[in-house]
Amino acid sequence: MTADLFADDSAASEPLRLGEEAVLLRGFALDQADALLADITAITTRAPFRHMVTPGGKSMSVATSSCGDLGWVSDLHGYRYASADPLTDLPWPATPERWLDLAERAKRAAGFADSSAPDACLINRYAPGARLSLHQDRDERDFGVPIVSVSLGLSAVFLWGGNRRADPYRTMVLSHGDVLLWGGVDRLRFHGVKPVAQDASCRWEHRFNITMRKAA
Ligand code: SIN
Ligand code: FE2
Repeated sequence: MTADLFADDSAASEPLRLGEEAVLLRGFALDQADALLADITAITTRAPFRHMVTPGGKSMSVATSSCGDLGWVSDLHGYRYASADPLTDLPWPATPERWLDLAERAKRAAGFADSSAPDACLINRYAPGARLSLHQDRDERDFGVPIVSVSLGLSAVFLWGGNRRADPYRTMVLSHGDVLLWGGVDRLRFHGVKPVAQDASCRWEHRFNITMRKAA
């Protein structure tokens, strides 16, 4: 094995600790990235990407869809999980087995004991310029289960804050294939995404992010 190969291997497998119970696994999903993107295409053929409206009446710059028993929705009445897609009135597409398997392996690699399967997978699509302001994921019933976030396509600058909105935040680039998990004492950390930049050298026109959650 060459020194370069060795360096690549260790970079991909070395977990980066962002908190007591928050871990970034660089490149963890890289070998499955094409299949995950094909899954997203199949899912969003049935449950199309759409720009949801916030309770404040603003259209989100991020386009979203979901798969699993529950999907995350937002409208003038608030944020919630729903068992049917409000756009089609149909149940959300099933979560692909490979996604459940990836979540399980990532939780183990990051040292989480939790073995419950996600029942809600939110899919975000960021065109250049799209962003997600600082927020907590708190529409789920059980905060004991970690969030498993998979980044694909264009890179983005991720904001990683504290438990209060005003807490200082650090920034890090999330790239194609990176998997980030946060649970336990870090489960209610504020987080967000800076406006995604165009990258002519990248073969993808969007950033995609999958967050696998236990909502019910
Ligand atoms: C989210 O917070 O729902 C998504 C985060 C991301 O796109 O990385
Ligand atoms: Fe979030």
